[in-house]
Formats: sequence, C-alpha cells, structure tokens
Amino acid sequence: MTKNVLRSNSAEQTRAIGAMLAQSLLGGDVVLLSGDLGAGKSEFARGIAAGLGVQGPVTSPTFTLLNIYQTKHGFDLRHFDWYRIQDAEELLLSGLDELIGGEGITLIEWHERAKGLVPRKHLEVAIRTLDEHSRELVLHAAGGFRLLDFTNPPREQMP
Ligand SMILES: Nc1ncnc2c1ncn2[C@@H]1O[C@H](COP(=O)(O)OP(=O)(O)O)[C@@H](O)[C@H]1O
Ligand SMILES: [Mg+2]
Repeated sequence: MTKNVLRSNSAEQTRAIGAMLAQSLLGGDVVLLSGDLGAGKSEFARGIAAGLGVQGPVTSPTFTLLNIYQTKHGFDLRHFDWYRIQDAEELLLSGLDELIGGEGITLIEWHERAKGLVPRKHLEVAIRTLDEHSRELVLHAAGGFRLLDFTNPPREQMP
C-alpha cells in the first residue's frame, strides 16, 4: 500500500499534477477521484486528459454518467461521474459498467455510489479543500496498483 500527500494552491496546479500523473498511467488503470463537491475532482480529471493528449474541452459528466475521449496513446479515456446515481443497479442497467477498466484509462468521480463496481486494483486521489484555493491531495494505491514517483524529475536530471 502506497500513500502520497501533495498540496495544490490553485486550479492550474491541480491540473498540472493531474497531467504529471497521466505520464505514469497505463492503459487499464483505474483512478478514483474523491472529495466533496467543488474539491477539484473534475479539474484533476482535466489535467489527466491534457496529459494524455486529449483535444478539446473536458466537461463534467454529471448528467451523462460517462464521457469518453481519445488519447494520443491509442486507448481511450473514460471519465465517469456517479453523483446522480443511487446505487450500482443503475449502472448495471445502463450497461455502462462494462466500460469500467478494460483497455482504456478509467476515471471515476463519486465511486462511493457503487463501490461494488470499483476494481480492487486502483489509484485513489482524495482531494480535500483546505481553503478557497488550497487543496490537499492524498494518493492511495490499492490492490497492487503500482504508483510511480511522478512528481520528481528522473534521477539523472537531478543536480
Ligand atoms: N487548488 C485548487 N484545485 C482545484 N480546484 C480549485 C483549486 N482552487 C480553486 N479551485 C476551484 O474549485 C472548483 C473545483 O471544481 P471541480 O473540479 O468541478 O470540483 P469537483 O469535480 O470536485 O466537484 C473550480 O471552480 C476551481 O477553479
Ligand atoms: Mg466533478
């Protein structure tokens, strides 16, 4: 189990951290974005999308449950937001549960709504609001998810 705590002082910084994390993600990875409304989950998702070379706007899938984007790596990016569902049943009925995991990268906001559908192997990014512009980001790798140290430059670039 790996834990990692980061701090962001602006929405831009949160997106930049997301973009950096994206460089260490592989097809099939599942990333849970948790935190209260307005914490910055969708900003973080925007950063991940940018890091994966997604073109065009990345909007919150609050009403659609899922948005899918093409990445520069060939696999797609699946961005779920389960805020508006009551339970796993709703996702199962929609058939969208089949798009969790698989070959693309999956991001899930409000995974708490359907915990039973969350793959055991995942990375959770828990975002906590400290004040208007500051957030604490706690990264927690579970089920054998291998989190690379993406925040530091490679060793050979160190002075
Ligand atoms: N450090 C920060 N990180 C992320 N968002 C921030 C930060 N500071 C301020 N914000 C603002 O907080 C809001 C976060 O919105 P959003 O990403 O949609 O939240 P969520 O998806 O968690 O409900 C945005 O309006 C953003 O500009
Ligand atoms: Mg959101």
